[in-house]
Amino acid sequence: MNGTVELIFDGKPLVLPTVVGTEGEVGIDIATLRAKTGCITLDPGYGNTGACESAITFIDGEKGILQYRGYDIAELAQKSTFVETAYLLIYGELPTSAQLAEFSGLLTDNEMLHEGMRHHFEGFPPTAHPMAILSSMINAASSYHPGLINAREERFPYHAARLISQVRTIAAFSYRKAHGLPSIYPKTTLKYTANFLHMMFSYPGEDCELKPEIVRALDLIFLLHADHEQNCSTSTVRMVASSRANLFASASAGVCALWGPLHGGANQAVLEMLEEIHKEGDDGTKFLTAVKDKTGNRRLMGFGHRVYKNFDPRAVIIKEQCDKVLAQLHVSDPLLDIAKKLEEIALHDEYFVSRKLYPNVDFYSGIIMRAIGIPMDMFTVLFAIGRMPGWIANFKEVMDDPDSRISRPRQIYTGATLRNYKPLAERA
Ligand code: ACO
Repeated sequence: MNGTVELIFDGKPLVLPTVVGTEGEVGIDIATLRAKTGCITLDPGYGNTGACESAITFIDGEKGILQYRGYDIAELAQKSTFVETAYLLIYGELPTSAQLAEFSGLLTDNEMLHEGMRHHFEGFPPTAHPMAILSSMINAASSYHPGLINAREERFPYHAARLISQVRTIAAFSYRKAHGLPSIYPKTTLKYTANFLHMMFSYPGEDCELKPEIVRALDLIFLLHADHEQNCSTSTVRMVASSRANLFASASAGVCALWGPLHGGANQAVLEMLEEIHKEGDDGTKFLTAVKDKTGNRRLMGFGHRVYKNFDPRAVIIKEQCDKVLAQLHVSDPLLDIAKKLEEIALHDEYFVSRKLYPNVDFYSGIIMRAIGIPMDMFTVLFAIGRMPGWIANFKEVMDDPDSRISRPRQIYTGATLRNYKPLAERA
């Protein structure tokens, strides 16, 4: 139940309303703080700041709980698919079979890129990172849909489906471009994840083999990444959406935020770290000593999380899947042995234990993607494909909220105070 809290400010009582979520977490509503006190709050990194109320995803970081629209991630991972979960996140309920068929139909209808977009791919140098291509191309795609104003319009379901479907086509095309390979068009007969693998690995006149265990593993990776409440990229999407920028522009900004190694780029950074440890003939012990000594500012990539202070439930599912996929494909990967050793040491080491640092979703996902044949610089792109439904759901929530205001934080200014302009000749 919502209530109030009484704080003491400057020796006097200050009463502020509280907002209580459906899972019991309490937020102090400070909307009137500045008017009442002349002060603002300061929370660099937003560790104590709730930016919105949201009904999409719930996380209890202390208990290691993650739920999409009230459904536990482990149950969805076991019983659902990425496409069904995407519908759940965006529209709030699991689809009926008619709704699912309509949604899947929309994804298929929108899987082709406008032919004009192929020219944009030609402009990128072969060295371009696929995340740069992805964010540019998503934004470029908005220019092919001039009716794309905001989610309130009735065409929102088409735009949402177009974005989920085309992000996968753009991703595959950018991989083919970077490797000098001909683009492979999507096939209407294939489902979402199988179609992505087809566009990645087939050749004109020679379709790749789509092993069901690989399709399922990748579908699961997409599903596990589909949303994660107010992380850096989702907050970015919401912030851009708050200015009423269109869906594609907001998602393109999300891709940029995801790219960094402290966020989605961690899956690539984990593999680079494991390769380096392997190259040096270390079993992980030397590396961990350097991390703990903070020499060279190194971190154990794929470990730690702002919210999880217990196991990331996605990491548990992915680790299990990793063992399964490698066994099914008869792959033995020395990097997996190093990863397991690092995890084993870290989970018992005082440095990591006292800071509550556990493996996150990125620690094992890269090893599965590598086993499937996905190149390392595409790892974060796959994360972006998976996260798209979550970004769209959050965009929709912003647009549907009649009380939504443009996001505009304040600051504490620490620069020079007022001074007079000095003519050039008088400056030292
Ligand atoms: N390796 C070693 N030390 C770490 C790590 C790590 N991976 N993560 C945090 N620490 C240490 C910090 O050095 C700091 O130590 P100190 O108290 O001695 O100064 C302490 O733990 C707290 O760290 P912060 O950086 O304040 O934690 P924050 O919540 O800001 O950062 C983050 C969270 C960015 C995820 C961090 O744990 C990290 O850099 N992890 C590695 C990168 C990574 O895997 N990112 C993916 C996150 S999941 C995702 O985005 C999908």
